[in-house]
Amino acid sequence: MPDQFADMWRAIEPLGRASSGGYFRQPFASAERELDAWFVEQAEARGLRLESDPFGNRIAWWDSGSGPGVVTGSHLDSVLDGGAYDGPLGVVSALGALDMLRDRGVRPTRPIGVSVFVEEEGSRFGLACLGSRLATGATTWQEARGLRDRDGVRLDEAMAALGLDDENPQPWLGSEQLACFVELHVEQGRALVDRGHAIGVASRIWPHGRYRFQISGEPNHAGTTRMEDRRDPMLTYAMTALAANKQARVAGQRATFGRVDTQPNSTNSVPSVVTAWMDARCESDEALATLVETITRQAEERAERDGTRLAVTAESVSGAVDFDPELARRIAVDHEAGDWPILPTQAGHDAGILSAQGIPSAMLFVRNPTGVSHSPGEHAEMADCLAGVDALAETLERLAT
Ligand code: HGY
Ligand code: MN
Ligand code: MN
Repeated sequence: MPDQFADMWRAIEPLGRASSGGYFRQPFASAERELDAWFVEQAEARGLRLESDPFGNRIAWWDSGSGPGVVTGSHLDSVLDGGAYDGPLGVVSALGALDMLRDRGVRPTRPIGVSVFVEEEGSRFGLACLGSRLATGATTWQEARGLRDRDGVRLDEAMAALGLDDENPQPWLGSEQLACFVELHVEQGRALVDRGHAIGVASRIWPHGRYRFQISGEPNHAGTTRMEDRRDPMLTYAMTALAANKQARVAGQRATFGRVDTQPNSTNSVPSVVTAWMDARCESDEALATLVETITRQAEERAERDGTRLAVTAESVSGAVDFDPELARRIAVDHEAGDWPILPTQAGHDAGILSAQGIPSAMLFVRNPTGVSHSPGEHAEMADCLAGVDALAETLERLAT
C-alpha cells in the first residue's frame, strides 16, 4: 500500500499548488478539473463503474454483493491558498482502502463506492457542501443555479461550459443508493496529537454559517472631508469585526471575518461600500442564532452612529449534525491499538450533509501534527496517512461484509 498511496499522492500534489505552497483548486476551474480527470483515470484503472451526476459529483463503484452500497470519499476542491490534505486525503485513502480489500481477497456483500463531491468548500459560489447538497436535495437546483462567483459568473454558466448543462437536474442520492457513508479527513485541530492517537472518529459537527455584511456609506475625499462629516463604512466594519471577536470569545464560540471587499478600494477616498463575510460556528443552533443576532445588533447600532446603512444576509447555514452514535461506536471500538477517540469538530463536511439527509454517516480523522488547516501549513505525516488507509479498509470491511 505505501507505494500505491505515495504514487497517487505524488500525482496530485503539484495540481493547483501556488508559490505559497498552498492550493487554489476552485470548482469547475483548471486545477480542480485536472484532479477530476485524475480521479476518472484512477476509477478506470481499477475497473470501477463510474457514476457521474449532473452536478459534477462522481461515485466509482466496486459492484460486489447487492443492495444499497457503502460509500467512502471526500472532495478535491480547496479553499483559497488551502492545504494539501483537506479533501484529497479522503479520496486517495478511499482508493487505497479499496485496493487493500481487493488485495486481501475480501468479498464485500454490499457494493463499495468511492465518491467525490464538488465545491465542498463553497470557495467559489459561497454555499458550503454545494455538490452533496444538490445530490441529496438539501438545496435545490433552482436555489443554487444563480449563485455567482467573485467575477459574477453564474454556477449554471460555469457548469454548462463543461457540458454539465441539464436544464433541471434532480436530486438522486438517498438511502436507496447508500446504506452508509464514511468520510476520512485530515483532522482540522489538535485533539488527536494532544491525545497521542493517529485515528479518531467524529461524534458531531458544530452548527455554522456564513453571513454577508454589506455596509454603505458616503464616498468622499480622504483629505478634504472633515472627520465629523464622514459616513465611513470602513469604520462600521472595523467596529463590527471587533464586536464579533469579543462576543465570540465571551460566549466561548467562534466568529471570523476573513474576507472583505472595499469599493472603490482607493487609497485617498472614503469608501462607498464595504462588504465583509463573517464565518460563525457555535456548539448549538441556539448559540449560533444568539451570537449572530448579538453581533448584527451591535453592527446596526454602530451603523446608526456612523450614518452608514447595513444589510446582513445569511449566505450558507449548516445546522448541528450528530452522527449516528451506534455507527460511530461500531467503527471506533476493538482495534489493536485500543479504541479510537470519538470527537466533535467545528469543520463542516459532506458527511454532515448526508447525515442530515438521513443517510447513516461517519467520519474518520487522521492526526494533524500542528492542527493547522485551510492554510499551506496543513500537514499529516505519511505514517499517519497510511494508518488512515488501514483504518478505512478495516472500517469498510466491518460495514460491507
Ligand atoms: O469550512 C469548513 O468547515 C470545511 O472545511 N469545509
Ligand atoms: Mn475545508
Ligand atoms: Mn474538507
